[in-house]
Amino acid sequence: MAWLEVELPSADGRVVGPSTSRPTPQRCPDAIPDYLTTNYGWAYLNRRNARLLDNDVVVTAILLGNHRRLRRAALSEVAAGQSVLQPAHVYGCLIPELARRIGPSGRLDVIDLVPLQAALCRRKLRGFPHARVRVADAAVARDKIYDVVNCFFLLHEIPDEQKRAVVDALLAQVAPGGRAVFVDYHAPARWQPLRGFYRRLFDRLEPFAESLWHHEVREFARNADAFRWQKTTLFGGVYQKTVAHRV
Ligand SMILES: C[S@@+](CC[C@H](N)C(=O)[O-])C[C@H]1O[C@@H](n2cnc3c(N)ncnc32)[C@H](O)[C@@H]1O
Repeated sequence: MAWLEVELPSADGRVVGPSTSRPTPQRCPDAIPDYLTTNYGWAYLNRRNARLLDNDVVVTAILLGNHRRLRRAALSEVAAGQSVLQPAHVYGCLIPELARRIGPSGRLDVIDLVPLQAALCRRKLRGFPHARVRVADAAVARDKIYDVVNCFFLLHEIPDEQKRAVVDALLAQVAPGGRAVFVDYHAPARWQPLRGFYRRLFDRLEPFAESLWHHEVREFARNADAFRWQKTTLFGGVYQKTVAHRV
């Protein structure tokens, strides 16, 4: 059982920092897992780095100029008035664009395991009362269903066992006729000159990403047959958009 002292979002959506008096330990139901602390703590748990990284210039550099295309690919799956679950904060402007696209007649729920990331996201969504941000684990399905689940570059950052849990939990929250959208890395084509570059990058910095070269997203789903799967790739196979339509 994990115990954490965390910033907790208050009922009105503000983040309440740790009190100056001795804190009462609270059981955190969605504790921050080791895979995140060990591999991505510097990016998601460090306040200064998180602020520095959370902008479109950085994201465009990380995605080698493909950020806008990838954002468009995700946004094209969403329409005004829909209910959307966004599992995990994403650096840059994707999430406010998503809220704008859904509009006030829709609803956006964002969840992230890390209170700091939830706070950054909440700040971006200030002007969108139809959007909510909660601290929660995407691997745990809530009793709620959505028209669209938009999983943007989360799977490559988590171990395979966790990928299975996250994919299952997300698919469980897709409404009849709805869809789950997975935008992430994919095996580059043999001719893609950056194939070696990505392999080295993953070896050094992204230990759970290369598994997406060897497995389709649907292979992580226990209930894959309840969905119609559609995959497109971009940038010589480096990236994929896989859409699971609930049949
Ligand atoms: C979406 S992923 C990577 C996105 C991409 N690197 C970017 O920001 O442009 C990063 C986020 O996933 C969150 N995260 C990791 N595992 C999670 C989980 N199981 N449930 C919810 N959020 C998770 C991290 O806290 C972090 O904020």
